[in-house]
Amino acid sequence: MLTEYALRKRVMVTGGAGFLGSNLCDRLIADGHDVLCVDNFFTGTKDNIRHLLDNPHFELMRHDVTFPLYVEVDEIYNLACPASPIHYQFDPVQTTKTSVHGAINMLGLAKRTKAKIFQASTSEVYGDPAVHPQTEGYWGHVNPIGPRSCYDEGKRCAETLFFDYHRQHKLRIKVARIFNTYGPRMHPNDGRVVSNFIVQALKGEPITIYGDGSQTRSFCYVDDLIEAFIRLMGTPDDVTGPVNTGNPGEFTIKQLAEKVIQMTGSSSRLIYEPLPTDDPTQRQPDISLAREKLGWEPDITLETGLARTIPYFDALLSK
Ligand SMILES: NC(=O)c1ccc[n+]([C@@H]2O[C@H](COP(=O)([O-])OP(=O)(O)OC[C@H]3O[C@@H](n4cnc5c(N)ncnc54)[C@H](O)[C@@H]3O)[C@@H](O)[C@H]2O)c1
Repeated sequence: MLTEYALRKRVMVTGGAGFLGSNLCDRLIADGHDVLCVDNFFTGTKDNIRHLLDNPHFELMRHDVTFPLYVEVDEIYNLACPASPIHYQFDPVQTTKTSVHGAINMLGLAKRTKAKIFQASTSEVYGDPAVHPQTEGYWGHVNPIGPRSCYDEGKRCAETLFFDYHRQHKLRIKVARIFNTYGPRMHPNDGRVVSNFIVQALKGEPITIYGDGSQTRSFCYVDDLIEAFIRLMGTPDDVTGPVNTGNPGEFTIKQLAEKVIQMTGSSSRLIYEPLPTDDPTQRQPDISLAREKLGWEPDITLETGLARTIPYFDALLSK
C-alpha cells in the first residue's frame, strides 16, 4: 500500500480536455497517477474525457488559467492554450493572456508546491525559420506584430518566464517545443491541415491546399508525442529543455493530401488558394537532443497514424 502511495503522483494537466491534453490524461491514468484536468473548454470538450469521468483517480475542474489556482500537486503539465490559427486568432488578446498570465499562474503554483512543471511550447517559436531543420539553439525568425504573433510571441514569452523561474527560483522546468501533431480528438474544424484534409476527404468535398502545396511539414502521431512528454518529465533536474519533439519525416502538403485521398478512398479533388500571411514554407524538427536526453524518437509512420485517425473522424462525422 505504501508503495502504491509512493508511486502515485498527483498530476495536473491544464488544457486537459483538449486534443493533446486528453490523450495525456489517458496515459497518466494508465500509468497509475491521480490526474487533475483543468480546462475552460474554449477549444476542448468533455467528450474527450467523458470516459474518465467515473474514474476515482480522475478529477475535472473548469478553470481559466489566466486566473490563479490553489491546489496541491506534484507535477504540472501546462498545455492550456488554443493551438490552431482559427482558434488563437479568434481572441488574440486572450491568447496572449493564456500563454503569459497562464504561465505566470502555473509557475507560481509550481513554486508554492515545489512541483515539477512542463510547458507545451511550440515550433512556432522558430517563426518562418531561416535555418533548416531547426535545432533548439536557433533563436527564430518571428514577426512580433502579425496576426500569428499572439500565439508565437505568447509562447516565446512563456518560455522566457519558465527559464527565469528556473534561474531565479530554482524551479524544476521541462520545456518541449512541439511540432505538428495529429491523431484522434483533434478538433474537426480548426483548420489544421491533417484534420482539414481528412474531414474534406470523408465528406467528398474538394481538398483545399494553400499555396502550391510544395511547402513541407512533418507530422507526429499523438502517441509518440505523449511518450516524449512522459520521458521529458522523468529526466533528471538538469534537463530543462527546450527539447524539440516531433517527427522529422518531411512531406509536402500535396503529398499529404494525396495520401489522405488514397487512404479514405475519396473522390475529392484538390483546389488551390493563396498562402496565409506568415505561413512558414518549411518546417522540420531536428530531434538529436530528444534522442540523446530522452532516448526517444517517433516510431509511428504517417501511414499508420492516418489509419488510426481516419476512423475517429469517420465516427465523428457519422454522429
Ligand atoms: N497539436 C499540435 O500540433 C501542437 C503543436 C505545438 C504546440 N502545441 C501546444 O500543445 C498544447 C495543446 O494543444 P492541442 O493541440 O491539444 O490544442 P487544443 O485546442 O485541443 O487544447 C488546448 C486546451 O486548452 C484549453 N484552454 C485554452 N485556453 C485556456 C485557458 N485560458 N484556461 C484553461 N484552459 C484553456 C482548451 O479548452 C483546450 O482544451 C497547446 O499549448 C499548444 O500550443 C500543440
